[in-house]
Amino acid sequence: YVVDKGNHRHFMEKEIYEQPEVISHALGHYVDFGSTKVRDLPGSIDFAAIDRLAISACGTAYLAGLVSKYWFERLARLPVEIDVASEFRYREMPLSKNGAALFISQSGETADTLASLRYCKQEGLKIGAVVNVKESTIARESDAVFPILAGPEIGVASTKAFTCQLTALAALAIGAARQRGTMSEADEIAAVKHLIEMPRIMSAVLNSIQPQVETLARELSKCKDVLYLGRGTSYPLAMEGALKLKEISYIHAEGYAAGELKHGPIALIDEEMPVIVIAPHDRFFEKTVSNMQEVAARGGRIVFITDAKGAAASTLETMATIVLPEVDEIISPMIYSLPVQLIAYHTAVIMGTDVDQPRNLAKSVTVE
Ligand code: G6P
Repeated sequence: YVVDKGNHRHFMEKEIYEQPEVISHALGHYVDFGSTKVRDLPGSIDFAAIDRLAISACGTAYLAGLVSKYWFERLARLPVEIDVASEFRYREMPLSKNGAALFISQSGETADTLASLRYCKQEGLKIGAVVNVKESTIARESDAVFPILAGPEIGVASTKAFTCQLTALAALAIGAARQRGTMSEADEIAAVKHLIEMPRIMSAVLNSIQPQVETLARELSKCKDVLYLGRGTSYPLAMEGALKLKEISYIHAEGYAAGELKHGPIALIDEEMPVIVIAPHDRFFEKTVSNMQEVAARGGRIVFITDAKGAAASTLETMATIVLPEVDEIISPMIYSLPVQLIAYHTAVIMGTDVDQPRNLAKSVTVE
């Protein structure tokens, strides 16, 4: 890896655009392109032997973990406890001796994540680490290491590490489902085929949405607050979108489960505040659209991120509708990450902030 910006203005932009390539590389570690099945990883966790999985991480890594909770539970029927590491470490959570714990960290050095790991280890749990830096402390102290193979990430706001974390976690969840006998061979092969197609779809998206996102970013740069909504795995993605936007553009943003709209954020809706709705045409779509109608009825400005089917199914007026390819549920978090990242990036560029080194933030937080 040569760590320079290449033809890009910022490391963040470069890291966004290199995702198809690094994800292909990461996939090679986790799936067999010939049989289109996940590989048996040496020294891995025996998912058939556990009855619970505890996941703990910070920041973007935590949000990757939250996406994976949906996968582990739905595909592998494995209950997942997840919390931010700063809470997890002090919660004195009762841990099942038949459980395993998974820690997700780009750097592998985050103080709270490491403390959570040590707590679980002391409680006798089997420890897995999803890390980018294989020589890191978190990797060294774990029983099983799952590298995300994203290459060095320089931008403080995580992009490619997030989608590589998701890729590794998707493969782990499918592997866990196979071990637990909760996924048929045919379903495994179908899911892995979707993962294998993902880099090509990502390239197509990256090559097409930028002009539209830049136009939208010009509007967003004038706003004080932005709300992101999503359901299912699009809910953690809504939080990731809000996190990314606030980190680098300094615009206040919140990510909410679309179903929680009525329980609070709806009070904020007016003609000023954009609401970014992440809604692929999946089994949650109708529900999310009804939340979108509630926003429209109150004069809210909608940014609709969906696919062709979703766009055709709604007649609501929007500020922008970003249409992505129709993709399987297993890869939609990775595909929908792209507009989310680019919206934050272009808004920050227009605002003139220091995109790669936003104020007050550090790439790796090694103190509590
Ligand atoms: C910092 C970084 C984030 C990152 C988080 C967790 O806040 O700015 O980008 O998501 O730490 O870092 P880790 O290295 O544990 O993934």
